[in-house]
Amino acid sequence: MARRQFVAASAAAASTPTLATARAGFPWAANETYLNTATEHPLSKRTAAAMKEYLDALVNGPDAEREKFENGRLMTKVKEMFAALINAKPAEIGFTPSTQTGENIVLEGLGVMTGGNVVTNDLHYGGSLLNYRERRKQGLDTRIVEHKDHVMDFRDLERAVDRKTKLVAIALVSNVNGYVHEVRKIADLAHAHGAYVYADAIQAAGAVPVDVKAMGIDFLACSAYKWLMGGRFGYLYVREDLQERVLKAKLFGGRTTPKGASRYEISTVSHLGCVCQSEALAYIHALGVDRIRAHTRPLVERLAKELPALGYPCITPKGNDSPIVSFALKDPAVAKAKLKKAKVVVTLGGYMRVSPSVFNDMADVDRLIAALA
Ligand SMILES: Cc1ncc(COP(=O)(O)O)c(C=O)c1O
Repeated sequence: MARRQFVAASAAAASTPTLATARAGFPWAANETYLNTATEHPLSKRTAAAMKEYLDALVNGPDAEREKFENGRLMTKVKEMFAALINAKPAEIGFTPSTQTGENIVLEGLGVMTGGNVVTNDLHYGGSLLNYRERRKQGLDTRIVEHKDHVMDFRDLERAVDRKTKLVAIALVSNVNGYVHEVRKIADLAHAHGAYVYADAIQAAGAVPVDVKAMGIDFLACSAYKWLMGGRFGYLYVREDLQERVLKAKLFGGRTTPKGASRYEISTVSHLGCVCQSEALAYIHALGVDRIRAHTRPLVERLAKELPALGYPCITPKGNDSPIVSFALKDPAVAKAKLKKAKVVVTLGGYMRVSPSVFNDMADVDRLIAALA
């Protein structure tokens, strides 16, 4: 191989992300045992470097430097990468400030307040449930199906859906316990009744394989700050044939277009978020969601197996395939003190949620188990 070719090949290999080198890319992992991606993903050095470059351009100019980051090409590239991640077309993706904004756009666009009912369940995100309860006060027939042992019993959902159902709304992967909904079955049920399916994918996109076509998802929204590894803005997917015909645009602004899912956009998008996502999505694609899942699977499986024996019953069903696993807590204050002392970060409320990502390894799991033992 000619020297120049060799140098180029070595440089490419050195910069090709692999799971083996992932930890080094996330310095946070060296400072404390961070097992809390379901709350927020740390930024990688590579992503932060791109964002710093953009911030420098905003501080120092000149204008041409700023324009390298604030342009349609970058936004198009980001949409294409997100579309590829969920098996959608770029024209089916709009930017949205957040997951919940996306869900509200869907509710308003479907005209749920004008009649019919919406079916959801209590493994959906708390903020979304608040949304549905507020809408119930304003007259929406809201049906919140209750889980059984932290699993959605499909028969209970079947009983709630009828010919007046306009939408079935789920968190594809529940933030409560990582439960992965049987979305294809839910979509078939909804469609058979003339209803549509909305999936909140903030705990799914980047964490588990998502294929909107195979899953039968009609609308989907997510922010990028969890499993998409950063950028405080989000995406709205609207199935192409439902745009405008079924889901009306209700809010308009400078970014509203006559065609495509950007018809649901309103204002200038977060360019900093876009720069961040451009790096983060390229990284996720280079690693591959299947391989990311394979990396975290043994970590959550070990926790699910060992923590119950230490007095922490697992509230994530057996065989569930997501990187989130949760446990009931007898005494949250005791668990909190132990984990704080050991510098282990998880989500602690009435229960404990552990959510490893690419930068975690089995030694992190050892530290968590040792802290709680
Ligand atoms: C399932 C789920 N949906 C929505 C949200 C909030 O998303 P956003 O801030 O993008 O509206 C969260 C945040 O934890 C979540 O876990």
